[in-house]
Amino acid sequence: MRAERLAYIDAVKFLAQRANIKMPDNSFDDSAQKLRIRIYEANREAARFFFSQLTAPTGKAALAYLRGRKLSDKTIRSFGLGFAPNSWTALTDHLRSKGFDAAELIQSNLCVTNKRGNLIDRFRNRVMFPILDVRGNVIAFGGRIMTDEKPKYLNTSDTPAFKKSENLFALNIAKKSKSDKLILCEGYMDVIALHQAGFDFAVATLGTALTYEQAAVLKHYTNTVVLCYDSDQAGQNATVRAIDILRKENLDIKILKVPNGKDPDEFLRSHGENGHIKFKNLLEAAGNDILYRLDRLRQEYDINTDDGKIKFMTEAARMLAFLDNDIERDLYAGRLCGEMSIDRKSFNNQIDKFIRSRNKKEDREEFRKIQNQLAGVNSGGERVKSTNVRAVKAEEALIGYLFRNPEMSESIRRQLPPERMTTDFNRRLYTSFTDRAMSGKGVSFTDFSGEFSSEENSRIAAIMANHANDISSNSGSEYISVILSESEKLSAEDLANESPEAIQEYLNKIKNKKSKK
Ligand code: CTP
Ligand code: MN
Repeated sequence: MRAERLAYIDAVKFLAQRANIKMPDNSFDDSAQKLRIRIYEANREAARFFFSQLTAPTGKAALAYLRGRKLSDKTIRSFGLGFAPNSWTALTDHLRSKGFDAAELIQSNLCVTNKRGNLIDRFRNRVMFPILDVRGNVIAFGGRIMTDEKPKYLNTSDTPAFKKSENLFALNIAKKSKSDKLILCEGYMDVIALHQAGFDFAVATLGTALTYEQAAVLKHYTNTVVLCYDSDQAGQNATVRAIDILRKENLDIKILKVPNGKDPDEFLRSHGENGHIKFKNLLEAAGNDILYRLDRLRQEYDINTDDGKIKFMTEAARMLAFLDNDIERDLYAGRLCGEMSIDRKSFNNQIDKFIRSRNKKEDREEFRKIQNQLAGVNSGGERVKSTNVRAVKAEEALIGYLFRNPEMSESIRRQLPPERMTTDFNRRLYTSFTDRAMSGKGVSFTDFSGEFSSEENSRIAAIMANHANDISSNSGSEYISVILSESEKLSAEDLANESPEAIQEYLNKIKNKKSKK
């Protein structure tokens, strides 16, 4: 996965291809898969068409526009930029002549139906930016108008082959960069200008605010994200929201400030030949998100007055109390106290106060969660059983056994109803596996890829690997008896009767586990 920078199942496919092993077809979701492939093909053909239009006489103004924005021919080619001509059916006619039918053209969102029910091009008279996924499929387009008309950009809506909340512009290129960071910008033009200036690790969201899914994708490729949003108010507000989202993925965050209210593209252009070195300086000067937050906080108060200073330092203490890293906290506390000539000890006391109230609040939340668990409910109202290592081990061994002996599914399922499984994941895997096996569907590893997340797919593979060489002489019945006896022993009701001390101990145990992680 890391060497080729692929998602789990793609890495499996990649290796299978290299080893010349046929991957079992996913008969389960075949038609959806076929449609996706047709959409990729239609998009690729559209991208070729748009690119060819750019160098045709009809695209003269568009080419001039891109050159006017200081994009080189090499950049235009490597991003596959193009032009959607000012016509109602140019692309529609072209794609039809290539064998795409109306349903495919609509599903790909390249065409729409007009009032009379005829197919027309969705993008007209716009400069086109193709959007590729990390495997190189053309999945969508952004189209920019060349005047001040609105909307400035028109983007492909979500299709069966494209979700804008899960993709990032230019990640297909940036994933191959030598840099260990990724720069996250707001605009297509910012990314393209940065790549042209030698920063091939810039990516952008697709016309929406950063999502948790995109943060998870970023985390897959890097540990450090440099936020490089516009320096206007909207961009700064978006920066604060993005910081929160990236923090959840444990990413190191740097904030790059482009001076004078410019966006990165304007900044680079304003420096011409010196663009690279000027931007490199900004990149090296980029501070982390704590410094950025403290900076913003400081701007809210007049720190030349005693009152403003006190309020600022109090809020700063509250903010630092939320850092999990003591060393990090100490560093900024020291720096702030120095700058503000505040006694270090009293500032630390203030931070400690906030930490205590924060812990109390977190304890309360943790406690409530556990109480809910003991009462047998979780957020979905589903019954939850506490984790029991012995039971979980036996469940995994049983699942491993099933992978080796799928024909035993029916008999095992009769002996062990899914509800008796401890974890939600095991229960789902067990149910799905036995359901599929009993109805004669494929039960090889890849048949499950669609139903489970890539992280869960890794767990499935781990279970299979851990139990590949088990020898079970009694048809899995030893595992079943462990699971059944453990599930009786540890019912939620039993735990609900525990003393407060025992519950507290359980709470501490969970906490220790967390901090080790
Ligand atoms: N965007 C969009 N729809 C709009 C405006 C913006 O989808 N009507 C998205 C585009 O992805 C765009 C990004 O938001 O790239 C940032 O918008 P903006 O800063 O307005 O555009 P720039 O990228 O700076 O584009 P340009 O330099 O061409 O004006
Ligand atoms: Mn711009």
